[in-house]
Amino acid sequence: MEGFYARRAGDGSLQGMADGLLLLAKHKNLEIMTQRVDKNATVWLTPGTDEDDFEFFFVHEGEMEIDIDGEKVSFRAGDSFYIHRLKNNTLMRCTQSALILYVSTCPVFSGEAYWQEELRGMLRRINEKDHYTRRHSRAVMRYAVRLYEELKEYCPGLTLEDYVLGALFHDVGKCNVPGEILRKKDRLTNDEYRVIMHHPVDSGRILEPIYGKRIAELARTHHERMDGSGYPCGLMGEEIPFEARILAVADVFDAMTSDRGYNKVKSFEEAAQELYDLDRIFDRRVTETLVRLVQAGEITVAEDEEDE
Ligand SMILES: [Fe+2]
Ligand SMILES: [Fe+2]
Repeated sequence: MEGFYARRAGDGSLQGMADGLLLLAKHKNLEIMTQRVDKNATVWLTPGTDEDDFEFFFVHEGEMEIDIDGEKVSFRAGDSFYIHRLKNNTLMRCTQSALILYVSTCPVFSGEAYWQEELRGMLRRINEKDHYTRRHSRAVMRYAVRLYEELKEYCPGLTLEDYVLGALFHDVGKCNVPGEILRKKDRLTNDEYRVIMHHPVDSGRILEPIYGKRIAELARTHHERMDGSGYPCGLMGEEIPFEARILAVADVFDAMTSDRGYNKVKSFEEAAQELYDLDRIFDRRVTETLVRLVQAGEITVAEDEEDE
């Protein structure tokens, strides 16, 4: 029927994966959501950025306490409240796991900060399956960004901010890979390998609506190799965006120099030289720069990355 829109229970969306938030409907800036909050979890209620911002909460299930002027006030199933021109941040704590209907006139889902938090949450969840991924993501981002700074003339039109985010979240598609496969130390079966090979495509699919086509493409092509031996598409040479050739080097450099429990850990010098020698596989301009930066002591392990 024209003008009638339905949404069935179980229709998922990417948004539903964060903080238990699920977007049910959206019209201009108006968003209608449900939010599941675990027992003892806390949520900040924050003043809107605009005077007209209005946020309404209906407690469908569970119970929560809100700190109102130093006093804890309880809300139970059937209760509701709204915030409008709130003066200070206010903490809401769920004393029982809760399901809330949440209506907001200030977009919760379109904010950049929200998405970054969402993606960081995804990295944390991948990290629960495989401790390697989160540390790896941050290390790769640092190496890739340092290389990008030296080589940005080959990546016109790409901002540093975008590159940082693309590099940090390049493996976010691993959220769809089962933990047993991510953690497996023995050789993968063909089927398992096929599952792993899908993660760049999934990373691209997740990043595209947030950061656009170019960053999605960066994630999608970070396992492609100059001689066509990479995945998922077997692209060759110039078919691979330059920024992805940088990311590929940073990615493998971290894999070679960090302890994954089954590999021989190489020194930065050894790894950089080895990558430089693989000139059919990696772009020489990138590996040359890596060797130079390593020799100059400009690529180092950050303290917070050493153990995690
Ligand atoms: Fe990857
Ligand atoms: Fe990676």
